[in-house]
Amino acid sequence: MSNDHGDEPHELRVSKIRSGTVIDHVRGGQALNVLAILGIDGSEGEEVSIGMNVPSDRLARKDIVKVEGRELSQDEVDVLSLIAPDATINIVRDYEVVEKHRVERPDIVEGVLSCPNRNCITTGDEPVTSGFEVLEEAVRCSYCGTIVREEIASLIDTA
Ligand code: CTP
Ligand code: ZN
Repeated sequence: MSNDHGDEPHELRVSKIRSGTVIDHVRGGQALNVLAILGIDGSEGEEVSIGMNVPSDRLARKDIVKVEGRELSQDEVDVLSLIAPDATINIVRDYEVVEKHRVERPDIVEGVLSCPNRNCITTGDEPVTSGFEVLEEAVRCSYCGTIVREEIASLIDTA
């Protein structure tokens, strides 16, 4: 029998979590960028399981990130939607999925990406909050028009 876990009936590939968030249907290869967006760096106390390039019905291959003891902010979900547009956010409490929703791509993201153009007003000395319009497969700086397609994750302002 085929299902989206890519694990049954033979095995469970990544164990279930007790309470926290499962970010499922992440585009294959994006799991490490998901960790970067969530600021997960392997510090003590962070309990995280990752599956990479797991077979999936909906995507050719998917990544999955399970974070114990944490629910995500809307800002974090907005940024995740840029690199994982098909992701499902599952909130787990007491081993049960109590909430499930698809990420939605916002029209604009403010203050979370930094423009790669060094001459952009948002990267100068005067503090100007960055702003990007979200396109189909890219983001565009609202100030200088710079378009970034492939390397969106590298713009994430983790400071
Ligand atoms: N999950 C988990 N720990 C739990 C409950 C669920 O890690 N205690 C994971 C499952 O392994 C799955 C995801 O959360 O990857 C969603 O769980 P569920 O809704 O039960 O699975 P599906 O119905 O297959 O989800 P979807 O329809 O979104 O593919
Ligand atoms: Zn710019």
